[in-house]
Amino acid sequence: MKPDTKYETGVIWQDYQHKQLIDLFEKIKQARSDDSEKSLFPYTTGFLAMYVNHHFSLEEAYMAKYNYPDTEEHTRKHKAFIKELKAFRKEHREYSAKAVDDLIVRMEDWILSHILENDQKLGKFILRKEHAG
Ligand SMILES: [Fe+2]
Ligand SMILES: [Fe+2]
Repeated sequence: MKPDTKYETGVIWQDYQHKQLIDLFEKIKQARSDDSEKSLFPYTTGFLAMYVNHHFSLEEAYMAKYNYPDTEEHTRKHKAFIKELKAFRKEHREYSAKAVDDLIVRMEDWILSHILENDQKLGKFILRKEHAG
């Protein structure tokens, strides 16, 4: 999976932040195939914990600002992912190859389901609102 234009919404801050996540996903996937993922594991889980709070709050602030019609569903997905990551960290406090594999799957699912679908819709909506103003 390449961080190509299909992930872009055209909203600069959103694309920048999504790229941070996609780049980290690519990096840990690559490291896993080189067997060099051990040191990247705590960084990745730590980054994700910080990232989801910050990134989701920003998207939610824009949803509120523009009265986004799918706010409820979108926010529910954010909350579910935060919960999922918390449970993951609780289950995998230490590095293991299995934990990394599990994390890679969860990150990929998020990128493909949420960034590629829900965030695309939100991004298009924000762009429309900003250009109309
Ligand atoms: Fe989102
Ligand atoms: Fe997002």
